[in-house]
Amino acid sequence: MKPPNHPKQPGRSRGRARGLAGGLAAALAAVTAAAVGLAMPAQAASTLKASAEARGRYFGTALTRGDLGNGTLTNLAAAEFDMVTPGNEMKWDATEPSRGSFNFGSGDQIVSFAQSHGMRVRGHTLVWHAQLPAWVTGVQLNQIQSVMENHITTEATHYKGKVYSWDVVNEPYNEDGTLRQDVFYKAMGANYIANALRAAHAADPNAKLYINDYNIEGINAKSNALYSLAQSLLSQGVPLHGIGLESHFVVGQVPSSLQANMQRFADLGLDVAVTEIDDRIPMPADSSELQQQGADYGKVVNACLAVSRCVGVSQWGVDDGHSWIPGTFPGYGAAMMWDSGYKPKPAYTAALNALNSGTSSPSASSSPSSSPSASPSRSPIGGACSATIKTVNSWGGGFQSEVTVQAGSAPVNGWTVKWTWPGGQTISSLWNGTQSVSGSSVTVRNASYNGSLAAGASATFGFTANGSAATPALTCASP
Ligand code: G3I
Repeated sequence: MKPPNHPKQPGRSRGRARGLAGGLAAALAAVTAAAVGLAMPAQAASTLKASAEARGRYFGTALTRGDLGNGTLTNLAAAEFDMVTPGNEMKWDATEPSRGSFNFGSGDQIVSFAQSHGMRVRGHTLVWHAQLPAWVTGVQLNQIQSVMENHITTEATHYKGKVYSWDVVNEPYNEDGTLRQDVFYKAMGANYIANALRAAHAADPNAKLYINDYNIEGINAKSNALYSLAQSLLSQGVPLHGIGLESHFVVGQVPSSLQANMQRFADLGLDVAVTEIDDRIPMPADSSELQQQGADYGKVVNACLAVSRCVGVSQWGVDDGHSWIPGTFPGYGAAMMWDSGYKPKPAYTAALNALNSGTSSPSASSSPSSSPSASPSRSPIGGACSATIKTVNSWGGGFQSEVTVQAGSAPVNGWTVKWTWPGGQTISSLWNGTQSVSGSSVTVRNASYNGSLAAGASATFGFTANGSAATPALTCASP
Protein backbone atom coordinates (compact mmCIF):
# COMPACT_ATOMS: atom_id res chain seq x y z
CA MET A 1 0.00 0.00 0.00
CA LYS A 2 1.24 3.47 -0.79
CA PRO A 3 0.93 5.73 2.26
CA PRO A 4 -0.30 9.18 1.27
CA ASN A 5 2.51 10.83 3.24
CA HIS A 6 5.42 8.99 1.76
CA PRO A 7 8.57 11.06 1.33
CA LYS A 8 8.16 12.05 -2.30
CA GLN A 9 10.93 14.23 -3.64
CA PRO A 10 9.24 16.82 -5.84
CA GLY A 11 10.82 17.54 -9.19
CA ARG A 12 13.02 14.46 -9.02
CA SER A 13 12.41 12.05 -11.79
CA ARG A 14 13.69 8.62 -12.61
CA GLY A 15 15.50 10.13 -15.58
CA ARG A 16 17.26 12.70 -13.48
CA ALA A 17 18.20 10.07 -10.97
CA ARG A 18 19.90 8.12 -13.69
CA GLY A 19 21.76 11.24 -14.96
CA LEU A 20 22.84 11.97 -12.36
CA ALA A 21 50.77 6.79 15.63
CA GLY A 22 52.48 4.94 17.98
CA GLY A 23 52.99 5.19 21.78
CA LEU A 24 54.33 8.42 23.15
CA ALA A 25 54.22 10.33 19.89
CA ALA A 26 50.55 9.53 19.44
CA ALA A 27 49.74 10.39 23.01
CA LEU A 28 51.57 13.71 22.72
CA ALA A 29 49.80 14.47 19.46
CA ALA A 30 46.45 13.72 21.04
CA VAL A 31 47.14 15.90 24.07
CA THR A 32 48.32 18.75 21.84
CA ALA A 33 45.32 18.43 19.58
CA ALA A 34 42.92 18.38 22.52
CA ALA A 35 44.62 21.43 24.04
CA VAL A 36 44.19 23.48 20.87
CA GLY A 37 40.80 22.02 19.95
CA LEU A 38 41.92 20.20 16.82
CA ALA A 39 40.21 17.15 15.47
CA MET A 40 42.30 13.98 15.68
CA PRO A 41 42.31 11.07 13.32
CA ALA A 42 40.63 8.17 15.12
CA GLN A 43 41.53 4.54 14.71
CA ALA A 44 40.17 2.74 11.69
CA ALA A 45 37.67 -0.01 12.45
CA SER A 46 35.97 -2.81 10.57
CA THR A 47 32.34 -2.25 11.46
CA LEU A 48 30.16 0.78 11.10
CA LYS A 49 29.41 1.00 14.81
CA ALA A 50 33.04 0.59 15.95
CA SER A 51 34.24 3.26 13.56
CA ALA A 52 31.34 5.58 14.39
CA GLU A 53 31.96 5.14 18.14
CA ALA A 54 35.65 5.99 17.68
CA ARG A 55 34.41 9.29 16.28
CA GLY A 56 31.84 9.94 19.04
CA ARG A 57 28.93 8.95 16.80
CA TYR A 58 26.53 6.03 16.55
CA PHE A 59 25.42 4.06 13.48
CA GLY A 60 21.88 2.76 13.64
CA THR A 61 19.18 0.86 11.82
CA ALA A 62 15.43 0.49 11.95
CA LEU A 63 14.20 -2.94 13.01
CA THR A 64 10.67 -4.29 13.10
CA ARG A 65 9.31 -7.07 15.26
CA GLY A 66 9.21 -9.25 12.13
CA ASP A 67 12.93 -8.69 11.65
CA LEU A 68 13.63 -10.11 15.11
CA GLY A 69 12.74 -13.61 13.84
CA ASN A 70 15.43 -13.46 11.16
CA GLY A 71 18.74 -14.69 12.59
CA THR A 72 20.88 -13.59 9.65
CA LEU A 73 19.45 -10.11 9.73
CA THR A 74 19.68 -9.71 13.50
CA ASN A 75 23.28 -11.05 13.62
CA LEU A 76 24.26 -8.55 10.98
CA ALA A 77 22.41 -5.74 12.75
CA ALA A 78 24.06 -6.57 16.08
CA ALA A 79 27.51 -6.70 14.47
CA GLU A 80 27.26 -3.43 12.55
CA PHE A 81 24.87 -1.15 14.45
CA ASP A 82 24.69 0.33 17.95
CA MET A 83 21.36 2.12 17.72
CA VAL A 84 17.90 0.77 16.88
CA THR A 85 14.78 2.61 15.78
CA PRO A 86 11.58 0.53 15.94
CA GLY A 87 10.14 0.59 12.41
CA ASN A 88 6.49 0.58 13.47
CA GLU A 89 6.22 -0.73 17.03
CA MET A 90 6.18 2.54 18.99
CA LYS A 91 3.74 4.35 16.71
CA TRP A 92 0.31 5.38 17.98
CA ASP A 93 -1.61 2.65 16.10
CA ALA A 94 0.57 -0.01 17.75
CA THR A 95 0.70 1.46 21.26
CA GLU A 96 -2.79 2.89 21.83
CA PRO A 97 -5.05 1.14 19.33
CA SER A 98 -8.14 2.16 21.27
CA ARG A 99 -8.57 5.09 23.57
CA GLY A 100 -6.83 4.60 26.93
CA SER A 101 -5.86 1.00 26.07
CA PHE A 102 -2.09 0.76 25.75
CA ASN A 103 -0.01 -2.08 24.33
CA PHE A 104 3.79 -1.90 24.51
CA GLY A 105 4.52 -5.60 23.79
CA SER A 106 6.05 -5.17 20.34
CA GLY A 107 8.01 -2.08 21.27
CA ASP A 108 9.32 -3.85 24.36
CA GLN A 109 10.62 -6.69 22.18
CA ILE A 110 12.66 -4.24 20.12
CA VAL A 111 14.00 -2.61 23.30
CA SER A 112 15.02 -5.96 24.79
CA PHE A 113 16.78 -6.97 21.57
CA ALA A 114 18.67 -3.68 21.61
CA GLN A 115 19.58 -3.93 25.29
CA SER A 116 20.78 -7.50 24.99
CA HIS A 117 23.12 -6.43 22.16
CA GLY A 118 24.48 -3.24 23.73
CA MET A 119 22.48 -1.06 21.36
CA ARG A 120 20.57 2.07 22.26
CA VAL A 121 17.09 3.01 21.04
CA ARG A 122 15.68 6.01 19.23
CA GLY A 123 12.00 6.15 20.18
CA HIS A 124 9.82 6.65 17.11
CA THR A 125 7.29 8.29 17.25
CA LEU A 126 4.86 10.00 19.66
CA VAL A 127 2.84 12.42 17.51
CA TRP A 128 2.35 11.78 13.79
CA HIS A 129 -0.57 12.22 11.44
CA ALA A 130 0.09 8.76 9.93
CA GLN A 131 -0.35 5.34 11.52
CA LEU A 132 -2.77 7.17 13.76
CA PRO A 133 -5.75 5.03 14.80
CA ALA A 134 -9.10 6.21 13.47
CA TRP A 135 -10.46 6.78 16.97
CA VAL A 136 -8.14 9.77 17.43
CA THR A 137 -9.52 11.65 14.47
CA GLY A 138 -13.03 10.91 15.81
CA VAL A 139 -12.37 12.70 19.11
CA GLN A 140 -13.86 16.18 19.61
CA LEU A 141 -11.23 18.80 18.87
CA ASN A 142 -11.49 20.29 22.36
CA GLN A 143 -10.34 16.91 23.79
CA ILE A 144 -7.41 16.35 21.44
CA GLN A 145 -4.84 18.11 23.61
CA SER A 146 -5.60 15.91 26.62
CA VAL A 147 -5.68 12.77 24.39
CA MET A 148 -2.31 13.72 22.86
CA GLU A 149 -0.70 14.57 26.20
CA ASN A 150 -2.04 11.39 27.82
CA HIS A 151 -0.61 9.34 24.94
CA ILE A 152 2.78 11.03 25.19
CA THR A 153 2.91 10.84 28.99
CA THR A 154 1.92 7.16 29.11
CA GLU A 155 4.31 6.02 26.36
CA ALA A 156 7.29 8.19 27.33
CA THR A 157 6.86 7.12 30.98
CA HIS A 158 6.75 3.44 29.94
CA TYR A 159 10.03 3.83 28.06
CA LYS A 160 11.66 6.24 30.54
CA GLY A 161 15.34 5.43 30.89
CA LYS A 162 15.16 2.98 27.97
CA VAL A 163 15.32 5.34 25.01
CA TYR A 164 18.14 7.66 24.03
CA SER A 165 15.82 9.98 22.18
CA TRP A 166 12.25 10.45 21.00
CA ASP A 167 11.01 11.62 17.66
CA VAL A 168 8.33 13.53 19.54
CA VAL A 169 6.76 15.14 16.50
CA ASN A 170 7.11 13.39 13.18
CA GLU A 171 6.75 14.92 9.74
CA PRO A 172 4.81 18.07 10.73
CA TYR A 173 5.49 20.01 7.52
CA ASN A 174 4.10 20.23 4.03
CA GLU A 175 6.62 20.66 1.23
CA ASP A 176 5.96 24.43 1.01
CA GLY A 177 6.89 24.96 4.67
CA THR A 178 3.35 25.25 6.02
CA LEU A 179 2.33 22.97 8.85
CA ARG A 180 0.12 20.01 7.98
CA GLN A 181 -3.51 20.59 8.86
CA ASP A 182 -3.76 17.38 10.85
CA VAL A 183 -5.99 16.77 13.86
CA PHE A 184 -3.34 18.09 16.26
CA TYR A 185 -2.92 21.32 14.29
CA LYS A 186 -6.68 21.73 13.98
CA ALA A 187 -7.08 21.41 17.75
CA MET A 188 -4.10 23.48 18.99
CA GLY A 189 -2.64 25.29 16.01
CA ALA A 190 1.15 25.32 15.88
CA ASN A 191 1.18 25.14 19.70
CA TYR A 192 0.69 21.39 19.51
CA ILE A 193 4.42 20.99 18.85
CA ALA A 194 5.48 22.88 22.01
CA ASN A 195 2.78 21.08 24.02
CA ALA A 196 4.02 17.70 22.79
CA LEU A 197 7.66 18.48 23.57
CA ARG A 198 6.79 19.72 27.09
CA ALA A 199 4.72 16.60 27.85
CA ALA A 200 7.52 14.31 26.64
CA HIS A 201 10.14 16.19 28.68
CA ALA A 202 8.00 15.99 31.84
CA ALA A 203 7.66 12.21 31.36
CA ASP A 204 11.32 11.48 30.52
CA PRO A 205 13.60 14.42 31.33
CA ASN A 206 16.73 12.60 30.12
CA ALA A 207 15.55 11.70 26.62
CA LYS A 208 16.72 13.88 23.73
CA LEU A 209 13.61 15.27 22.10
CA TYR A 210 13.49 15.63 18.32
CA ILE A 211 11.36 16.93 15.52
CA ASN A 212 11.88 14.53 12.61
CA ASP A 213 10.96 15.12 8.96
CA TYR A 214 11.86 14.28 5.37
CA ASN A 215 12.96 16.59 2.55
CA ILE A 216 14.56 18.89 5.14
CA GLU A 217 18.08 17.62 4.47
CA GLY A 218 18.99 20.54 2.21
CA ILE A 219 18.26 24.25 2.60
CA ASN A 220 14.78 24.73 1.15
CA ALA A 221 11.33 26.11 2.05
CA LYS A 222 10.54 23.19 4.32
CA SER A 223 13.82 23.24 6.26
CA ASN A 224 13.67 27.07 6.44
CA ALA A 225 10.25 26.82 8.11
CA LEU A 226 11.53 24.22 10.56
CA TYR A 227 14.58 26.38 11.27
CA SER A 228 12.33 29.34 12.17
CA LEU A 229 10.15 27.12 14.34
CA ALA A 230 13.22 25.73 16.13
CA GLN A 231 14.48 29.27 16.83
CA SER A 232 11.07 30.23 18.18
CA LEU A 233 10.72 27.12 20.37
CA LEU A 234 14.19 27.55 21.84
CA SER A 235 13.57 31.25 22.57
CA GLN A 236 10.49 30.18 24.58
CA GLY A 237 12.43 27.59 26.53
CA VAL A 238 10.60 24.67 24.94
CA PRO A 239 12.57 21.41 25.44
CA LEU A 240 13.68 20.74 21.87
CA HIS A 241 17.05 19.02 21.63
CA GLY A 242 17.46 17.74 18.11
CA ILE A 243 16.42 17.72 14.47
CA GLY A 244 16.06 14.41 12.63
CA LEU A 245 16.85 14.48 8.93
CA GLU A 246 15.16 11.36 7.57
CA SER A 247 17.28 11.32 4.38
CA HIS A 248 15.24 9.18 2.02
CA PHE A 249 17.35 10.00 -1.02
CA VAL A 250 17.29 9.19 -4.72
CA VAL A 251 20.66 8.05 -6.05
CA GLY A 252 22.82 10.99 -7.14
CA GLN A 253 20.55 13.54 -5.46
CA VAL A 254 22.00 14.11 -1.98
CA PRO A 255 21.54 17.90 -1.55
CA SER A 256 24.76 19.89 -1.83
CA SER A 257 23.59 22.04 1.12
CA LEU A 258 23.29 19.04 3.48
CA GLN A 259 26.30 19.93 5.66
CA ALA A 260 25.47 23.66 5.77
CA ASN A 261 21.90 22.83 6.72
CA MET A 262 23.03 20.51 9.51
CA GLN A 263 25.44 23.20 10.72
CA ARG A 264 22.80 25.93 10.94
CA PHE A 265 20.61 23.78 13.21
CA ALA A 266 23.68 22.79 15.24
CA ASP A 267 24.54 26.48 15.62
CA LEU A 268 21.19 26.92 17.39
CA GLY A 269 22.45 24.52 20.05
CA LEU A 270 20.59 21.51 18.67
CA ASP A 271 21.81 18.02 17.93
CA VAL A 272 21.20 16.77 14.42
CA ALA A 273 20.87 13.17 13.30
CA VAL A 274 20.41 11.35 10.01
CA THR A 275 17.49 9.21 11.12
CA GLU A 276 16.24 7.07 8.23
CA ILE A 277 18.73 7.02 5.36
CA ASP A 278 18.14 5.00 2.25
CA ASP A 279 19.13 5.82 -1.34
CA ARG A 280 16.82 4.39 -3.96
CA ILE A 281 17.84 3.41 -7.46
CA PRO A 282 15.65 2.84 -10.54
CA MET A 283 15.59 -0.92 -11.03
CA PRO A 284 17.48 -2.81 -12.19
CA ALA A 285 20.45 -1.08 -10.53
CA ASP A 286 23.61 -1.09 -12.62
CA SER A 287 27.17 -0.98 -11.31
CA SER A 288 27.63 2.75 -11.93
CA GLU A 289 24.48 3.46 -9.92
CA LEU A 290 25.74 1.26 -7.11
CA GLN A 291 29.03 3.21 -7.17
CA GLN A 292 27.10 6.50 -7.14
CA GLN A 293 25.07 5.19 -4.21
CA GLY A 294 28.37 4.57 -2.42
CA ALA A 295 29.40 8.16 -3.11
CA ASP A 296 26.03 9.29 -1.70
CA TYR A 297 26.40 7.33 1.53
CA GLY A 298 29.99 8.58 1.87
CA LYS A 299 28.84 12.17 1.38
CA VAL A 300 26.22 11.84 4.13
CA VAL A 301 28.70 10.25 6.56
CA ASN A 302 31.27 12.96 5.78
CA ALA A 303 28.69 15.70 6.41
CA CYS A 304 27.80 14.19 9.78
CA LEU A 305 31.48 13.87 10.78
CA ALA A 306 32.07 17.51 9.79
CA VAL A 307 29.32 18.81 12.10
CA SER A 308 30.28 18.26 15.73
CA ARG A 309 26.63 18.12 16.87
CA CYS A 310 25.68 15.48 14.33
CA VAL A 311 25.29 12.57 16.73
CA GLY A 312 24.81 9.71 14.32
CA VAL A 313 23.41 8.13 11.19
CA SER A 314 20.65 5.52 11.02
CA GLN A 315 19.63 3.52 7.96
CA TRP A 316 15.92 2.71 7.56
CA GLY A 317 16.35 -1.07 7.75
CA VAL A 318 19.28 -3.39 7.03
CA ASP A 319 19.06 -4.98 3.60
CA ASP A 320 17.34 -4.52 0.25
CA GLY A 321 15.06 -7.48 0.96
CA HIS A 322 13.40 -5.72 3.90
CA SER A 323 13.08 -2.16 2.65
CA TRP A 324 9.86 -0.15 2.35
CA ILE A 325 11.09 1.40 -0.92
CA PRO A 326 9.84 -1.05 -3.59
CA GLY A 327 6.36 -1.07 -2.05
CA THR A 328 6.05 2.71 -1.99
CA PHE A 329 8.09 3.75 -5.01
CA PRO A 330 7.31 1.18 -7.70
CA GLY A 331 10.25 0.70 -10.05
CA TYR A 332 12.78 1.73 -7.40
CA GLY A 333 14.78 -0.41 -4.99
CA ALA A 334 18.33 -1.42 -3.96
CA ALA A 335 18.35 1.49 -1.49
CA MET A 336 20.32 -0.10 1.36
CA MET A 337 23.98 -0.90 2.18
CA TRP A 338 23.39 -4.68 1.93
CA ASP A 339 21.67 -6.52 -0.90
CA SER A 340 18.79 -8.90 -0.35
CA GLY A 341 21.28 -11.74 0.18
CA TYR A 342 22.93 -9.70 2.99
CA LYS A 343 26.03 -9.07 0.90
CA PRO A 344 27.63 -5.66 1.56
CA LYS A 345 27.33 -3.30 -1.41
CA PRO A 346 29.68 -0.49 -2.48
CA ALA A 347 27.57 1.77 -0.22
CA TYR A 348 28.68 -0.20 2.84
CA THR A 349 32.36 0.04 1.91
CA ALA A 350 31.95 3.74 1.14
CA ALA A 351 30.22 4.47 4.46
CA LEU A 352 32.87 2.54 6.39
CA ASN A 353 35.72 4.18 4.48
CA ALA A 354 34.21 7.62 5.08
CA LEU A 355 33.99 6.88 8.81
CA ASN A 356 37.53 5.47 8.92
CA SER A 357 39.04 8.41 7.09
CA GLY A 358 37.09 10.90 9.17
CA THR A 359 38.45 12.76 12.14
CA SER A 360 36.90 12.68 15.59
CA SER A 361 35.25 15.87 16.72
CA PRO A 362 33.36 16.01 19.97
CA SER A 363 29.84 14.74 19.78
CA ALA A 364 27.10 13.87 22.19
CA SER A 365 27.22 10.16 22.21
CA SER A 366 28.96 6.86 22.16
CA SER A 367 28.00 3.50 23.53
CA PRO A 368 29.53 0.17 24.38
CA SER A 369 29.95 -2.30 21.56
CA SER A 370 28.08 -5.52 21.52
CA SER A 371 29.88 -8.84 21.61
CA PRO A 372 31.08 -10.51 18.40
CA SER A 373 28.58 -12.48 16.39
CA ALA A 374 30.85 -15.48 15.90
CA SER A 375 33.37 -17.32 18.06
CA PRO A 376 36.72 -15.60 17.72
CA SER A 377 39.91 -17.42 16.80
CA ARG A 378 42.98 -15.91 18.52
CA SER A 379 46.66 -16.26 17.66
CA PRO A 380 49.00 -17.40 20.46
CA ILE A 381 49.49 -14.74 23.14
CA GLY A 382 52.96 -13.91 24.46
CA GLY A 383 54.63 -12.61 21.31
CA ALA A 384 54.94 -9.02 20.17
CA CYS A 385 51.33 -9.09 19.02
CA SER A 386 48.27 -11.32 18.80
CA ALA A 387 45.44 -11.39 16.27
CA THR A 388 41.79 -12.39 16.57
CA ILE A 389 39.44 -13.09 13.69
CA LYS A 390 35.66 -13.14 13.78
CA THR A 391 32.95 -13.44 11.15
CA VAL A 392 30.70 -10.42 11.15
CA ASN A 393 28.43 -11.35 8.25
CA SER A 394 27.88 -14.10 5.73
CA TRP A 395 25.71 -14.59 2.67
CA GLY A 396 25.34 -17.13 -0.09
CA GLY A 397 28.85 -17.64 -1.42
CA GLY A 398 30.64 -15.08 0.71
CA PHE A 399 31.34 -13.61 4.11
CA GLN A 400 32.82 -10.61 5.92
CA SER A 401 35.41 -10.84 8.71
CA GLU A 402 37.07 -8.52 11.17
CA VAL A 403 40.62 -9.08 12.50
CA THR A 404 41.80 -7.34 15.68
CA VAL A 405 45.57 -6.99 16.08
CA GLN A 406 46.72 -6.33 19.65
CA ALA A 407 50.20 -5.34 20.83
CA GLY A 408 51.65 -7.38 23.71
CA SER A 409 53.33 -5.86 26.76
CA ALA A 410 55.58 -3.65 24.60
CA PRO A 411 54.74 -1.19 21.79
CA VAL A 412 54.93 -2.51 18.22
CA ASN A 413 55.96 -0.56 15.17
CA GLY A 414 54.43 -2.45 12.27
CA TRP A 415 52.64 -5.82 12.28
CA THR A 416 52.09 -8.76 9.97
CA VAL A 417 49.23 -11.24 10.27
CA LYS A 418 49.30 -14.56 8.39
CA TRP A 419 46.91 -17.44 7.89
CA THR A 420 46.05 -20.26 5.50
CA TRP A 421 42.56 -20.68 4.13
CA PRO A 422 41.11 -24.14 4.83
CA GLY A 423 38.72 -24.35 1.86
CA GLY A 424 39.67 -22.26 -1.15
CA GLN A 425 38.40 -18.94 0.16
CA THR A 426 39.53 -15.78 -1.67
CA ILE A 427 39.50 -12.20 -0.43
CA SER A 428 37.53 -9.83 -2.63
CA SER A 429 38.11 -6.57 -0.76
CA LEU A 430 40.31 -5.68 2.26
CA TRP A 431 40.53 -2.44 4.22
CA ASN A 432 42.86 -1.02 6.93
CA GLY A 433 45.73 -3.22 5.74
CA THR A 434 47.63 -4.40 2.66
CA GLN A 435 47.45 -8.01 1.55
CA SER A 436 49.61 -10.39 -0.42
CA VAL A 437 48.37 -13.82 -1.39
CA SER A 438 50.22 -16.95 -2.39
CA GLY A 439 47.94 -19.90 -3.06
CA SER A 440 45.91 -20.40 0.08
CA SER A 441 48.35 -18.37 2.23
CA VAL A 442 47.46 -14.82 3.10
CA THR A 443 49.73 -12.15 4.55
CA VAL A 444 48.28 -8.84 5.73
CA ARG A 445 50.53 -5.99 6.78
CA ASN A 446 49.46 -2.79 8.53
CA ALA A 447 48.34 0.22 6.56
CA SER A 448 50.38 3.43 6.79
CA TYR A 449 48.21 4.75 9.59
CA ASN A 450 47.68 1.79 11.94
CA GLY A 451 51.05 0.06 12.29
CA SER A 452 52.21 1.77 15.50
CA LEU A 453 50.48 0.41 18.57
CA ALA A 454 51.17 1.29 22.19
CA ALA A 455 51.57 -1.66 24.61
CA GLY A 456 48.20 -3.44 24.80
CA ALA A 457 46.63 -1.22 22.11
CA SER A 458 44.81 -2.70 19.14
CA ALA A 459 43.94 -2.02 15.52
CA THR A 460 41.46 -3.76 13.27
CA PHE A 461 41.30 -4.61 9.60
CA GLY A 462 38.45 -6.18 7.69
CA PHE A 463 37.69 -7.93 4.46
CA THR A 464 35.00 -9.53 2.38
CA ALA A 465 35.75 -12.93 0.87
CA ASN A 466 34.26 -15.52 -1.45
CA GLY A 467 33.58 -19.01 -0.17
CA SER A 468 32.39 -20.42 3.15
CA ALA A 469 32.92 -18.40 6.29
CA ALA A 470 36.03 -19.58 8.14
CA THR A 471 38.03 -18.56 11.21
CA PRO A 472 41.53 -19.92 10.46
CA ALA A 473 44.37 -19.88 13.00
CA LEU A 474 46.31 -16.60 12.75
CA THR A 475 49.89 -15.69 13.52
CA CYS A 476 50.99 -12.16 14.29
CA ALA A 477 54.55 -10.83 14.10
CA SER A 478 56.18 -7.42 14.38
CA PRO A 479 57.40 -6.28 12.03
O1 G3I B 1 -0.35 -3.74 10.61
C1 G3I B 1 -0.96 -3.99 9.31
C2 G3I B 1 -1.37 -5.43 9.19
O2 G3I B 1 -2.35 -5.73 10.15
C3 G3I B 1 -1.87 -5.66 7.77
O3 G3I B 1 -2.15 -7.02 7.58
C4 G3I B 1 -0.84 -5.22 6.72
C5 G3I B 1 -1.37 -5.36 5.32
O4 G3I B 1 -0.80 -4.42 4.48
O5 G3I B 1 -0.55 -3.87 6.94
C6 G3I B 1 0.02 -3.65 8.22
O6 G3I B 1 0.32 -2.28 8.32
C7 G3I B 1 1.46 -1.83 7.60
C8 G3I B 1 2.47 -1.29 8.59
O7 G3I B 1 3.58 -0.71 7.91
C9 G3I B 1 3.03 -2.40 9.54
O8 G3I B 1 3.68 -3.38 8.78
C10 G3I B 1 1.01 -0.72 6.66
O9 G3I B 1 0.19 -1.27 5.66
C11 G3I B 1 2.20 -0.06 6.02
O10 G3I B 1 1.75 1.07 5.31
C12 G3I B 1 3.15 0.40 7.09
O11 G3I B 1 4.23 1.00 6.45
C13 G3I B 1 5.13 1.69 7.30
C14 G3I B 1 5.11 3.18 6.97
O12 G3I B 1 6.08 3.85 7.79
C15 G3I B 1 3.77 3.81 7.22
O13 G3I B 1 3.83 5.16 6.91
C16 G3I B 1 6.52 1.13 7.05
O14 G3I B 1 6.55 -0.24 7.48
C17 G3I B 1 7.54 1.95 7.84
O15 G3I B 1 8.84 1.52 7.46
C18 G3I B 1 7.36 3.42 7.49
O16 G3I B 1 8.29 4.18 8.23
C19 G3I B 1 8.28 5.59 7.98
C20 G3I B 1 8.70 6.29 9.26
O17 G3I B 1 7.89 5.87 10.34
C21 G3I B 1 8.61 7.81 9.08
N1 G3I B 1 9.37 8.25 7.92
C22 G3I B 1 9.10 7.54 6.69
C23 G3I B 1 9.24 6.03 6.87
C24 G3I B 1 9.02 5.31 5.56
O18 G3I B 1 7.72 5.50 5.13
